[in-house]
This record gives sequence, C-alpha cells and structure tokens, in this order.
Amino acid sequence: MSGVSENRNIVLGITGSIAAYKAAELARLFVSRGYTVRTIMTQSAQEFITPLTLQSVTGNVVMTDFWESAQPQNIEHIEIADWAHAIVVAPATADLVARMAHGLADTPLLATLLATRAPIVLAPAMNVNMFEHAATQENITVLRKRGIHFVDPEEGALACGWNGTGRLADPWEIFYNVRRYLAKGDMTGKRVLISTGPTREPIDPVRFISNRSSGKMGVALAQEAFVRGADVTLVHGPVSVKKVPDSVRRIPVTTAVEMHAAVLQEYGAEPYDVVIMAAAVADYRPKYVAEDKIKRREFKDRIEMVENPDILLDLGKQRKDSKRPVLVGFAVETGEIDELLEQARDKMKRKQTDLIIGNFASDAFDLDTNHVWMLDRTGRQEEVATTFKSRVANRILDAVLRL
Ligand SMILES: Cc1cc2nc3c(=O)[nH]c(=O)nc-3n(C[C@H](O)[C@H](O)[C@H](O)COP(=O)(O)O)c2cc1C
Repeated sequence: MSGVSENRNIVLGITGSIAAYKAAELARLFVSRGYTVRTIMTQSAQEFITPLTLQSVTGNVVMTDFWESAQPQNIEHIEIADWAHAIVVAPATADLVARMAHGLADTPLLATLLATRAPIVLAPAMNVNMFEHAATQENITVLRKRGIHFVDPEEGALACGWNGTGRLADPWEIFYNVRRYLAKGDMTGKRVLISTGPTREPIDPVRFISNRSSGKMGVALAQEAFVRGADVTLVHGPVSVKKVPDSVRRIPVTTAVEMHAAVLQEYGAEPYDVVIMAAAVADYRPKYVAEDKIKRREFKDRIEMVENPDILLDLGKQRKDSKRPVLVGFAVETGEIDELLEQARDKMKRKQTDLIIGNFASDAFDLDTNHVWMLDRTGRQEEVATTFKSRVANRILDAVLRL
C-alpha cells in the first residue's frame, strides 16, 4: 500500500471452534489487499472447515500435519515461522490458549507459534463460561505478559446458545489490529481528530436536507491512521462506521450544528496533533423545524434557510498562529481543474488550514476510490491519481507528517 511501509507475509492459524468459517473471510480480506497468506489448521479445525476452502482463498497449500510433507532439507514449521511477518490465530480455542501458555509444540501450529519471532495476535472464540473461566483468563494473562497480542471476543448471542463474551471479533476488527502490529507505527502516540459523512438538516418529522457524502474518505482516514499507530476520534454524520476499529472513538452526530459543537468541544478538550475535516457539512439549514409534516401545497412557502456555523473557519480562528495541530480541510467542486485548485487555495487561505485536499464530486461521492490534489501551506502541490480511498488516506497522512 503506497505511503505506508507494511510487511506483508501473514500466517493464519485456525483452531477447532464453530467460528472457524469466519477465518476464510479474514483470509480473503488480507488476500484482497495484497497480502500473502499461508494457513495452518489444527486437526479439530478441519472438522469445521476444509483446508481446500483456505487453499482456494489464499492460493497456498494449507499446513495440517507435521509428518506428511516432512523433508530433511526443509523443516516446514521453522521455515513458515521465519517467513511470517505476523501470525494471527483466528479463532483461537481455549485449548490453543492453554497449550500455548505452557509452551507446548505438539502440532504444526503450536510449534510455529513457539518458533517465530514475528508478532502474534490471538482472536479467541469460545463459550462465555470457557472464556471467563479462571484457567482461560490466567492463561491469557500469562500470554499477554509474554507480548502476545489479543483481539478480544465480542459480547452477544453465541453459537452454543449462551449469551455473553466469547464471540469471535469481527474479521474487519482482526484485520485492522493485525495491520497495526505490522505497520511501522509512524503515527504512534499522535492524537487525530477526523470528521466525516454528510449532515442532515431536518425540515419536519419526515424530511431533511442532506448531500451525497458516504463518509468513506473519512472512514478510510480513521482506519489508516489507526493502522499507523494513532489515537483516533471520529465525529461522523449518519453513515456506516461498522468497519472502523473498535478502539477508534466515535461521536455520532446528525446536524451541522451538532457536528460543530462536537468538533469544537473535542478540540478544546484534548491536545490533538492532527485535525482532518472530511465531512460534507450543510452550509444552510431550515430556520424552523416543523412539528408536523408540512403539507404539499404549503411546502414552498414554509422553508426559510439560515446559515450554519463554519467548523473549519472556527478551528482556524481558535488555533490562531500556532502550527499545531496540523489542520486539514477538504474542498469538493464540480467543473474544471483550474477552478478546483483556485477554490482549494482560496479555502486554505480563508480558513487558515495547513493542507487542503481538492476533489471533484464525481470522483469522490459514494465511491471506494478518489482522485485528489493536495495543496499545502508551503506551496507544495501533489496529485494522487484515482486509487482506493485507503491509499489516498495514506498519501494524505504522509503529507500531514511532512508538515
Ligand atoms: C461443535 C463444537 C464446537 C466447538 N467450539 C469451540 C469454540 O468455539 N471454542 C473453543 O475454545 N472450543 C470449541 N470446541 C472444543 C474444541 O474443538 C476442542 O477443545 C479441541 O480439542 C480444540 O482443538 P484445537 O485447539 O487443537 O483446535 C468445540 C467443539 C465442538 C465439538
């Protein structure tokens, strides 16, 4: 992925839990983002999902047995342990956690986990009582002390019929956490505040004014800043943030006035290093919100508009002449490139931002890709040709780190 240096060899360990089928989705996520994945399955895991599934998804032979492929010139579990940039076991059974805590090595997966120097991430999945059992909890504590990372299970309805903590974390959650351990962490310790999505300005109980922003650009910025080690807060309008890692703090808002209040309150409360305003905030809102549904024939006479507060302008004013936090804005236009660049430059000056990201509505709205121009206060101008928003996000974060 451009802009962020990340190691790319993943070993995926799968153990005997009902959640084993979700491992195929996790493997697919890594493969679709260009990682090379090699899988090791326990004997029990093969009762739940076949090696053929993982072989098909990853394009690599699955390791299941010590002895079948044993060759004197190639000790496979050592070779794979050395090859890995990270090992993730998802799902990890109570049994795997216990055996690992004791340093056992009687299966290919356990031997590889013992032999590797790569970071290890375990995503446990089990019945709530198995998870909460003192034995499991003590084993987890021992492993944490040894530097093993965990992506904690979720709370909810479990396949075994119980309710509680024990459900395998969402594959996206595991994906972003593993990537955080793989990346070089050039934003570690940095506090980043991001806004994203549209706002909704109510007219009456059934109608609102909004725009086509999907929030995907800001979500990508939050995901990638998290991967690079940052501490992220995301203020978002009504968009899906399901794929945002759990440790990103989310503040949901609806209207521009609410977004303004939430962003300025955060700005005043925490010493942020970077503030990126990617939300498409409505410039105007209806002056009055009708209590009852407005009748069709009354509609055009009833809507009077008033201007919304300007979040970026107020942030720029509050920051005064200080260079911190780095302030980033977005400018979306339709029309010609010259106009876009002029508008972007003008916006950077008026709102006193350090960086402005210019993009066209037709390239940006509701798409997984974007095409942007980055202009910074030093006069530097850089074009990022159409690519995935995750890549655009990393280029923006690179530009932020240069300032
Ligand atoms: C239907 C079924 C579902 C199971 N689900 C889990 C589970 O979610 N988590 C767990 O820790 N063990 C679960 N087990 C028990 C493990 O499969 C068992 O402890 C096994 O020895 C684990 O071996 P492994 O860790 O080498 O894969 C389940 C067993 C069965 C029969």
